[in-house]
Amino acid sequence: MAFLPLCTTDEIEAGASLRVEPDNLPPLAIFNLDGEYFVINDTCSHGDASLCDGEIEDGEVECPWHNAKFCIKTGKALTFPAVEAQKTYLTRVVDGKVGIEV
Ligand code: FES
Repeated sequence: MAFLPLCTTDEIEAGASLRVEPDNLPPLAIFNLDGEYFVINDTCSHGDASLCDGEIEDGEVECPWHNAKFCIKTGKALTFPAVEAQKTYLTRVVDGKVGIEV
């Protein structure tokens, strides 16, 4: 496993998200939940929407297309029409950089 930095901590305010497109990986959504960072696949498992365009509330993100909700921490699909979880990534902060283990 190797640490892949994706952004700096100050690029995402608490309660916000950032979409990144690293090489050799699908687009990723990085979320800042009160200073804790989580990374999941950005493209909704139900369609092609970007979850970074969705509303974030209570640790959940709502897809902007058909309003499915996902748990940001676990990627679990919480409401219809999404039934498949979003892939999650082991996320760490190292020297002010948010990244994942790949
Ligand atoms: S594309 Fe996300 S719920 Fe349909």
